[in-house]
Amino acid sequence: MRAPSRLAVLGAGHVGPVIARLAIKAGYPVAIATSGDPEDIALITELIIPGAQPRWASDAVADADIVVLAIPLHRFGDIDPTLLDGKLVVDAMNYWPASDGVLSAFEHGGSSEIVARRLTGSTVVKALNHIGYHELEDRARPAGAPNRPAAGVAGDDPAAAAAIASLLDRIGYDPVRLESLRAGRVLQPGGPVFGVVLTLPEFERAVSQNARSLT
Ligand SMILES: NC(=O)c1ccc[n+]([C@@H]2O[C@H](COP(=O)([O-])OP(=O)(O)OC[C@H]3O[C@@H](n4cnc5c(N)ncnc54)[C@H](OP(=O)(O)O)[C@@H]3O)[C@@H](O)[C@H]2O)c1
Repeated sequence: MRAPSRLAVLGAGHVGPVIARLAIKAGYPVAIATSGDPEDIALITELIIPGAQPRWASDAVADADIVVLAIPLHRFGDIDPTLLDGKLVVDAMNYWPASDGVLSAFEHGGSSEIVARRLTGSTVVKALNHIGYHELEDRARPAGAPNRPAAGVAGDDPAAAAAIASLLDRIGYDPVRLESLRAGRVLQPGGPVFGVVLTLPEFERAVSQNARSLT
């Protein structure tokens, strides 16, 4: 059997540890990193993300198949894009001017498309950005459970989107594939499914009503 993909979660704030915990529970090996020394998060990792390995970001990324960006968007520019070359990158970030400040590059359009344009050597998929961190964990349910929530996955590369759809399924969500990174704009702040937890039919309805309202 193929070994499960290894995850590097960049960001150990609100959402990074939750993603890490869910992924560990689903059987993925997980490393977690901040911009600093892994020693600084060793104790907290042991306490709140048992099983995760705190590492330097560069080491975590080097050994990972999937890298989750769970850092504030205004810190994204600190990351050397070449570090992520060849990686499947999950962009869980949102443009949130109240905390990011105004970032003119992100004022219009899809934030993940802009992220992808900078990460030219990576395959970028947008996911795990549209559900609040506490709900992300509390609402996760195994496949087939009643009222299992849905989570969106948007990407231009079908194999990469399929891998992340499988990750979402394994951590407790019915994945909803959106046909492109651009289509993933529905997942970002201001979009019809941002910040609400919806079942699969509710999610699909919200997305299609939104599409109709734009025509
Ligand atoms: N909060 C939520 O419910 C939620 C849900 C879904 C998505 N999101 C999105 O996820 C992103 C993170 O949100 P958050 O609320 O978790 O932020 P947060 O609590 O402020 O945590 C940010 C984390 O990122 C780390 N970090 C910053 N720059 C880094 C770098 N260059 N490399 C590695 N780690 C770095 C920070 O550590 P150091 O400063 O020590 O490096 C910190 O651990 C945002 O874009 C947000 O919109 C949030």
